[in-house]
Amino acid sequence: MNRVHGLHLIVLTSLCCVALSAGEGDRRSVLWRGRSIAVEDAADSVLVSPSGNFSCGFYKVATNAYTLAVWFTASADATVAWTANRDTPVNGVGSRAELRKDGSLVLQDYDGRVVWSTNTSGTPADRAQLLDTGNLVVSDAAGNRLWQSFDWPTDTLLPEQPVTRYRQLVSAAARGSPYSGYYKFYFDSSNILNLMYDGPEISSNYWPDPFKKWWDNNRTAFNSSRHGSFDRRGVFTASDQLQFNASDMGDGGVMRRLTLDYDGNLRLYSLDAAAGRWHVTWVAVQRQCDVHGLCGRYGICTYSQGPTCSCPDGYVPHDASDWSKGCRRTFDVRCGEDVAFAEMRHTDYWGFDLNYTAGISFDTCRRLCLVDCRCEAFGYRQGTGECYPKISLWNGRVMSIPYQTIYLKFPTGAKNLNPSLLHFDGHTCTMDERDATVSSSYLHGRRNTINFIYFYSFLAVVFVVEAIFVVVGYLFVFRADSVAAGRVGDEGYSLVFSHFRRFTYDELSDATCGFRDEIAKGGTGSVYKGVLEDGRSIAVKRLDEMTQADEVFRSELSVIGRINHMNLVRIWGFCSEHPHRLLVSEFVENGSLDRALFDGDDGEDNTGVVLPWRSRYKIAVGVAKALAYLHHECLEWIVHCDVKPENILLDGDFEPKAPAESPARPAAAPDPAEEARSASSPSPSAADA
Ligand SMILES: *[C@@H]1O[C@H](CO)[C@@H](O)[C@H](O)[C@H]1NC(C)=O
Ligand SMILES: *[C@@H]1O[C@H](CO)[C@@H](O)[C@H](O)[C@H]1NC(C)=O
Ligand SMILES: *[C@@H]1O[C@H](CO)[C@@H](O)[C@H](O)[C@H]1NC(C)=O
Ligand SMILES: *[C@@H]1O[C@H](CO)[C@@H](O)[C@H](O)[C@H]1NC(C)=O
Ligand SMILES: *[C@@H]1O[C@H](CO)[C@@H](O)[C@H](O)[C@H]1NC(C)=O
Ligand SMILES: *[C@@H]1O[C@H](CO)[C@@H](O)[C@H](O)[C@H]1NC(C)=O
Repeated sequence: MNRVHGLHLIVLTSLCCVALSAGEGDRRSVLWRGRSIAVEDAADSVLVSPSGNFSCGFYKVATNAYTLAVWFTASADATVAWTANRDTPVNGVGSRAELRKDGSLVLQDYDGRVVWSTNTSGTPADRAQLLDTGNLVVSDAAGNRLWQSFDWPTDTLLPEQPVTRYRQLVSAAARGSPYSGYYKFYFDSSNILNLMYDGPEISSNYWPDPFKKWWDNNRTAFNSSRHGSFDRRGVFTASDQLQFNASDMGDGGVMRRLTLDYDGNLRLYSLDAAAGRWHVTWVAVQRQCDVHGLCGRYGICTYSQGPTCSCPDGYVPHDASDWSKGCRRTFDVRCGEDVAFAEMRHTDYWGFDLNYTAGISFDTCRRLCLVDCRCEAFGYRQGTGECYPKISLWNGRVMSIPYQTIYLKFPTGAKNLNPSLLHFDGHTCTMDERDATVSSSYLHGRRNTINFIYFYSFLAVVFVVEAIFVVVGYLFVFRADSVAAGRVGDEGYSLVFSHFRRFTYDELSDATCGFRDEIAKGGTGSVYKGVLEDGRSIAVKRLDEMTQADEVFRSELSVIGRINHMNLVRIWGFCSEHPHRLLVSEFVENGSLDRALFDGDDGEDNTGVVLPWRSRYKIAVGVAKALAYLHHECLEWIVHCDVKPENILLDGDFEPKAPAESPARPAAAPDPAEEARSASSPSPSAADA
């Protein structure tokens, strides 16, 4: 399902790109001194290289997060070749990139804060220009280069762009993510080009083969110039004598890139310009499981329809959505306790050997691990008698070498444990094994048939996308506002907001006994208490007659529906049946903070709550956590513009349910400037009394 979904997005973007490049013809490639491009101008503000092969501008990485990037115009998913601010995306409104009068090209966020700069202030810079090579260059009137993006690679090299002593590639954190990940392609201190996993807990090189000396890997450590690059024909050469050729070598008209992918593998790609797709024409690590850090501590990388992570029996995944966090034991191994060993054949955990001995018996090896409390497992190779006691278990993988076996230490007291069997839970670490091998179409030169296949699958996908559009459009346009929408309409919405539900007006009317129990009244509507059929207490906010377009209401709901934090009021659903609009949220017992603090001052009924300092502290921390979440942790950053005691609700334990944004933004129409700043507002709540 997810895959299919991704495909649609790619095709959609490709349609847009085709439309763009066709309609715009000869776009400008130069940004003159004193000029700027703004994020809102989207298509108008893109710099395009003279041949049209590269574009530079604001690149959307999340609903409200943009980077300044250079991308391949002709690739279907607008593959990014370079990013200025990969770890600090800017807001979708009010951000701009400007070649300032002082000579520096800067990227500033909506509030004017400079998040990135070429640091060329004080130079006579005259223009920023996107060249045909994909290089973004700041130069003076005479054409002298003062700064160029080729000196600041991110995860991709273009033809003639070098990896050097000072410039390394750093992978992305995940597929499609702009953020830096843990993999690096760099020259080490002995002048050798390496691939390294540089994670929070461990770091190690995995390419070239770390067990071999440099001469066995056909490299040289003598040349300290530390320079490597590839040319348009697809021939890579480096000062350490690393040399490789693309499988379609020689074709100078093909666009190429060398990318350190998020899965830690280094791949050379060629673009099939007609279909907008990339083909792998060389790959550094043939077996993806040989890449380090993929499955985390204790995790084991296996192949089942592509590389897959799993845990040994008795271990469970730490975080099933992020396998780099690995597995954890469901038992303890205490020093001095009785332990036994469980056997895992054809398996190895690379590295972290306490020491290495060859030619010893199995029992000797076993005893070495038994007597040393630091030893968690040992690897033993029958025949050669090689013994590897392990101090820590990382980089696990199944091996093709049949005689390699890992023996895991576990307490004999641990019942029901059968670690001799790997526990496969079938979780795929979103890696694509097909990517790991060189595309056969290029190897065998059978491009014509392949192209036809792409062409037809492209057509098929376009057809499917259109069908989906028609169906979804139908649901939205014809069913959304009709009471009779019933089940079909619900499903339409549930496609959009996964665990977030649409309620019917009757349902909410029943739940609130005909909107009898009003608990608060605010500028944008009244709030009623109710109980759902499943017993959950809810607060239902009736938004006043609408000031806002239906699409705005929905797009805001889609943001709100995804917010989920302990200290934010959870929104469970909504109802939109003309003329009614209601929001359903969890009911928070203790009312708002202002009542707890200033209680009695305004002559309203005294609830008798007096807050001890401990609770006050807890509330302050809770509110801070909620704000931190909105500002940094959710993908679509949200600026809360109305934090005040009235908007902070207290639950039964006086945990704050903080900034339940007051005048429910979906209802109110605040002044545009404010709206620009707040990407969207969180949980409209029962609070705004
Ligand atoms: C500009 O200077 C800042 C501060 O020294 C530095 O962090 C940043 O990497 C520099 N940017 C470029 C593109 O050189
Ligand atoms: C090194 O080069 C030799 C001869 O070309 C080749 O047989 C060998 O496989 C290469 N070794 C590696 C590790 O690439
Ligand atoms: C070192 O590498 C550079 C770049 O690849 C090359 O031009 C140079 O001739 C090499 N030097 C030696 C001594 O091999
Ligand atoms: C790559 O191609 C060049 C010719 O351009 C050739 O000299 C070289 O041996 C090839 N290298 C490999 C690794 O095949
Ligand atoms: C632009 O791309 C086309 C198609 O891939 C290629 O033929 C052409 O040589 C490219 N132009 C430049 C300047 O790279
Ligand atoms: C390996 O480690 C064990 C336990 O720490 C020690 O007894 C043994 O002598 C070591 N062997 C070598 C060759 O260092």
